[in-house]
Amino acid sequence: MKVLRTPGEMHDLREWFRDQPETVGLVPTMGYLHEGHNSLLKAAREENGFVVMSLFVNPTQFKAGEDLSTYPRDEERDLVIAESSGVDFIYAPAPDDIYPSGFATKVEVEGLTEVLCGSETSRGPGHFAGVTTIVAKLLNAVDPDVAYFGQKDAQQATVIRRMAEDLEFRTRIVILPTVRERDGLAMSSRNAYLSPESRERATAIWSSLLETESVFAEQGLDAALDAGRRHLELAGITPEYFEARYPGTLDPADGNGTDPVLVAVAANVDGTRLIDNILIEPSSTHRRTK
Ligand code: PAF
Repeated sequence: MKVLRTPGEMHDLREWFRDQPETVGLVPTMGYLHEGHNSLLKAAREENGFVVMSLFVNPTQFKAGEDLSTYPRDEERDLVIAESSGVDFIYAPAPDDIYPSGFATKVEVEGLTEVLCGSETSRGPGHFAGVTTIVAKLLNAVDPDVAYFGQKDAQQATVIRRMAEDLEFRTRIVILPTVRERDGLAMSSRNAYLSPESRERATAIWSSLLETESVFAEQGLDAALDAGRRHLELAGITPEYFEARYPGTLDPADGNGTDPVLVAVAANVDGTRLIDNILIEPSSTHRRTK
């Protein structure tokens, strides 16, 4: 496995890739790898001749007061995990090389980024402008055939798909299911912040989504959302949002049709901000897809 530290090295590799018959899979990460990342790496390994993993804690997607400075980092460990997952190339640039002085461009997707995590009472639309700007730069620097993201960040997945389509990137965007701990907690690098008590409390996030799904089957969406929110509040968690949206457009869902409904939640658990979601199929609410 080779580690590339500069955009220049990555561009040289991209040119070399262009002469190879094999496909290139990219797994963008901010490091502190967990099983969720591993599932993306595994798919990338199985489906491509070359696997590139980017490792970059992207400062522009954090707003002032968020956890940029404390975001968990352990590059040594990440490199060991990446190598054992079959990664061929790590792209780990320095922030000043990605955003050199004079950098002035923002890639912004309108509409989809103004709700849920993008609303002013949440991380704000600037969060997604940071995400789409770095992902556009990575797609440009690596020019992969396929790029892999996780469904845990459902809104991010929708926004990235839109951006890749609008800007005509040739890369196919693949979204893979959320990987969970045995008790249902979605894998996240931020889980490392949780104390044992908070970790226990955090399991209510996934169980609130399951509760929503089961009430939806019998009583409809409004009652289901109320039940899910109540479930969280009983665990002492006040959600930042707990909403039902259609996954492709992120428009508010009424759940009356046959289209799948995304129920997404963000909640601060004792100082740690966690997100999760469930995709509910109204036609067969017993057949859940993650
Ligand atoms: O999902 C993440 O880890 C990040 O948002 C991403 C896609 C690597 C961009 O920094």
